Amino acid sequence: MTVPPQSEFTIADYDRTTAFITARTAHRPSVAIILGSGLGALADSVNDALSIPYAELPNWPHSTVAGHSGRLVIGHLEDRTVMVMQGRSHFYEGQGMARVTYPIRVMQRLGIRTLIVTNAAGGLDPAYRPGDLMLIKDHINMPGLAGHNPLLGPNNDELGPRFPSLTNAYSRDLRRLARTVADDLNLLLHEGVYVYLSGPAFETPAEIRMLRMLGAHAVGMSTVPEVMVANHAGMRVLGISGISNSAIDDPDADLQPNHDEVLEAGKTIAPKLTALVRGVLRRLEA
Ligand code: HPA
Repeated sequence: MTVPPQSEFTIADYDRTTAFITARTAHRPSVAIILGSGLGALADSVNDALSIPYAELPNWPHSTVAGHSGRLVIGHLEDRTVMVMQGRSHFYEGQGMARVTYPIRVMQRLGIRTLIVTNAAGGLDPAYRPGDLMLIKDHINMPGLAGHNPLLGPNNDELGPRFPSLTNAYSRDLRRLARTVADDLNLLLHEGVYVYLSGPAFETPAEIRMLRMLGAHAVGMSTVPEVMVANHAGMRVLGISGISNSAIDDPDADLQPNHDEVLEAGKTIAPKLTALVRGVLRRLEA
């Protein structure tokens, strides 16, 4: 069993990073956006932006993965003050759950109430095509079921409840809003269950067939730890997967999943995702 994650950092740690950010900018973001593999382009549209490389932020996890820039961008997007994470770290990089989710606690201490989280995912539903978007309706946390859960360990009641509910982990209201925006944009938006695996190896064909049987529509290696902590912190969450590849369910197939196709699909996905997120920000209630 790993070190109890909630005790690895203290509120004083989170507040040191929070103070570092608030000393650098007068912006006070109310919405945070996490951009996944190959989806970093939205950060370049932030106006009046302050950009801080992750390496400068106390305790902040660094991303070592291609397609993740590793900077925090704070500024204005669609008249909202936002904090954008251009790149994230993953459990498979060897960071503990507490460090992977450290940015969420800083968001909480900054007063952020809404989190928009994005990722690249493999399509399990045969109807999904590379380049499609999927609204995350619910998740299956495979590492969590096996004990790699970011909320494990002594609970800090100042941060959230011991037994948080995840029934509405992906806010029903925000999903409704995103569907309305997608309709207006004439954008195909699937809605389904995201299954989280630790990675870094892609799934075997037998695992893909198992994940389908479990009721999952897309598979990936991120997002769920952050969403759990954000819910613990009382934030409302909108999750969007960009389908970068179709999962391969046949061991005799010639195709192999690979990170390059994930980054390549990001080029198709990023403009759609940008339009969707901008539309949501425009209509978000304060
Ligand atoms: N599997 C797991 N994670 C992923 C995939 C996949 O096929 N595509 C993008 N992230």
